[in-house]
Amino acid sequence: MPVKTSTTREIPNNVSAPRHVAIIMDGNGRWAKERYLPRVLGHRRGLKAVRKSVEFCYQNNIEFLTLFAFSSENWRRPLEEVSFLLALFQKSLEEEVTKLDENNVRFKMIGDRSKFSKKLQDLIQESERVTHDNTGLTLTVAANYGGRWDIVNATNQAILNGHLEISEDVLSQFLQLNFAPEPDLLIRTGGEVRISNFVIWDLVYTELCFTDVLWPDFDEKCFYDALNRYSERERRFGRAGTEHEISPKEIINS
Ligand code: IPE
Ligand code: IPE
Ligand code: MG
Repeated sequence: MPVKTSTTREIPNNVSAPRHVAIIMDGNGRWAKERYLPRVLGHRRGLKAVRKSVEFCYQNNIEFLTLFAFSSENWRRPLEEVSFLLALFQKSLEEEVTKLDENNVRFKMIGDRSKFSKKLQDLIQESERVTHDNTGLTLTVAANYGGRWDIVNATNQAILNGHLEISEDVLSQFLQLNFAPEPDLLIRTGGEVRISNFVIWDLVYTELCFTDVLWPDFDEKCFYDALNRYSERERRFGRAGTEHEISPKEIINS
């Protein structure tokens, strides 16, 4: 199956089971607050939910999982929280990439990594290199990622590569998720019903699933619930629904 189909240019072949699930992992702070704990402990528990979701995906043959871990607007948080999140990202790469590799997971990061420390940048690059040839789940972490930044960055890359005119095909080659099909399903935990500058280009025909469950509580059952909700959707991509299909005979007789 080809990796990339543009949903605005052609109808994807088989969308009955999602190939690509994207998640906005929200609600860590509220999870901690409910327990009178500092927000950062919510982030630490959130990492456990990340592990569970990654395992769920490789056990259930989901090909791509993309996780929103840190947005380009999350720098607006207190320095202490930002530092904790970046340190947690670094620690989890140091400790978990070997296990990902053993499970045939290909690791990718999307977002502007130039703002990270040299050490973290090297670690990201090394994690991507080590797992590059793995053929199981592709796990993508979005860090210092913004959907608008992605589009502007892709436009600039296209120009630098000699494209004098931008088209959908040209731009999509330079977008951060150029290696993945567009997400079939987006899950956002934590009760907010918004996109918060996530992969806006790629989400145009994605099925959206919002849940009040806070990210640290998101488990296998919640993942199954989201997949069930997805399986009940009719993905039309602009077409009339199947119940509106009229046979040529009916048209001729009308
Ligand atoms: C999501 O949880 C994690 C990140 C944005 C890094 P939050 O930290 O946004 O949790 P709430 O929304 O404050 O509960
Ligand atoms: C979105 O969550 C970003 C991530 C999950 C990384 P936020 O908590 O930052 O979103 P807003 O501020 O409520 O829109
Ligand atoms: Mg939040």
